[in-house]
Amino acid sequence: MKVLGNELIVQLNSQIQKEYAACHAYWAMEWAFLDLGWKGLAQWAHEEASGERHHAKGIAYYMLKKRAARPQMPMVAASQSFYDMTPLELLQAAAAMEAEMTENVNRLYTYAEDFDDGGVCLYAADMLEEQEKSEGELAQMVKMLKAADDEGAALILLDEKYKP
Ligand SMILES: [Fe+2]
Repeated sequence: MKVLGNELIVQLNSQIQKEYAACHAYWAMEWAFLDLGWKGLAQWAHEEASGERHHAKGIAYYMLKKRAARPQMPMVAASQSFYDMTPLELLQAAAAMEAEMTENVNRLYTYAEDFDDGGVCLYAADMLEEQEKSEGELAQMVKMLKAADDEGAALILLDEKYKP
């Protein structure tokens, strides 16, 4: 097993922190969608929140089980409030957050490359693939709401799609 360099441990811990921050943000988005009465979109945000927590767990387990390194439980700041946003604004905020996350993971990949750590490169490449999926789904949702002549009807369709 290649020893995980200190610099990469710092970067992976920082990524865990960002995943938890994204988890909080999606959870706050769930509450905002519930406040607006869009239960399907609230469910979608709820699942995204779980996904982000799962990403944090994945990194922690990778460090512990594959690299004998110790992840640090992060402090996570309060999420921004998403109340009083329209559903389109909420989805655009999520898209911006995912774009930023992709940048973070790209940075992690570059670090891993610089430190010649193929394992972390592979891990980051898998994360980037997931980011692409998230960004694609969000772009589709935003496009649907923006392109519709009747935004209300498009919203009802979208909300139905994600209803539990
Ligand atoms: Fe994530």
